[in-house]
Amino acid sequence: MPHISIRGLQKRFGGVAVINDLDLEMADREFTVLVGPSGCGKSTTLRMIAGLEDTSGGEIWIGGREVSGLDPKDRDIAMVFQDYALYPHMNVARNMSFSLRLAGTPPREIEERVKRVADMLSIGHLLERKPAALSGGQRQRVAMGRALVRDASVFLFDEPLSNLDAKLRNQMRAELAVMRKRVEKNMIYVTHDQIEAMTLADRIVVMHQGRIQQQGSPEDLYKRPANKFVAGFIGSPPMNFLSGELNGSDDRLAIAGDGFHVPVPEAKRAAMENRTTRRIDMGIRPSALKPVGESQSDPAIGSITLTVLVSEYIGAQSVLVCECGGQRVTAEVASDTPFAASAPMRFAVDPAGVHLFDPETEAAL
Ligand SMILES: Nc1ncnc2c1ncn2[C@@H]1O[C@H](COP(=O)(O)OP(=O)(O)O)[C@@H](O)[C@H]1O
Ligand SMILES: [Mg+2]
Repeated sequence: MPHISIRGLQKRFGGVAVINDLDLEMADREFTVLVGPSGCGKSTTLRMIAGLEDTSGGEIWIGGREVSGLDPKDRDIAMVFQDYALYPHMNVARNMSFSLRLAGTPPREIEERVKRVADMLSIGHLLERKPAALSGGQRQRVAMGRALVRDASVFLFDEPLSNLDAKLRNQMRAELAVMRKRVEKNMIYVTHDQIEAMTLADRIVVMHQGRIQQQGSPEDLYKRPANKFVAGFIGSPPMNFLSGELNGSDDRLAIAGDGFHVPVPEAKRAAMENRTTRRIDMGIRPSALKPVGESQSDPAIGSITLTVLVSEYIGAQSVLVCECGGQRVTAEVASDTPFAASAPMRFAVDPAGVHLFDPETEAAL
């Protein structure tokens, strides 16, 4: 039995629907990440699960119980917010134990739990300090610890790292990834950052405009995006999209346009058979573009000719920002790859990084 089951969840603010018919099941001890752009309904979904927001329809089941009508405190959940506030006059230990003291947990047990969670979060040596004497990252850990000491069956996190600077965020992300292996609990983690989603999740749920676009393992979503939205959202730098036309037949079937001719990957040929329009949107991962010399011209490999506008040096790799028949394309290449700005440059296309989409429905083909 799934630990959490959400069926036909709806939310309207005034007349505006922000969550539409959301269905979601989470296995026990699964770390689920809800990811999507700002405003897509992540926080609203989490707040409805927590009971901080009424639903406009649908059901929420936790541990075999329908909880939609229950008070937040009766739902067996703990939540960490984006703008966590610690009590400034209490030290770390008292901040962490606040809810346990409120619940009348025996002092021995409180001490034990606080110590265990504090060690897990590497803040065991800070228990006597007040929040003012902590760094941003340490405060963030205390806020998490405050939730984790509770014996809840579900932990909800709403963008807990988004107030940290980039370096600290990367560091905390790695620590969270370690921590989450130690805490065998149900966690639902909300973020707009696809890298956070990819590195932390057992299962990612991609949302857009109040609807689930796709759910699956990080690898599923990266390798088999269900539609153009997911394809463009998951992966960094983002996937390139080029509109082209289907031409040729059988093993010569290709997508072609101004400056490119890319064979249809074998696995996708069958899907091309019944198409009524020749127009196709092609997605190419920036890492699937491999620079080749002019001499190599095997039409079976497929190629694309790009004009490099700028090169963004990021260390071992560079991102070449290019143009192809008026469409913008980025290629991720070894940073010692020679190139000349404004001159045409040929790339072979790795079929594993090629995705095809219906231009009308945007569904993957
Ligand atoms: N209390 C509210 N009243 C009216 N509209 C709201 C309220 N809370 C959120 N919304 C709207 O609902 C949509 C989803 O918001 P939210 O769940 O906060 O998105 P996310 O967390 O994904 O950024 C947004 O368009 C937002 O403006
Ligand atoms: Mg939000």
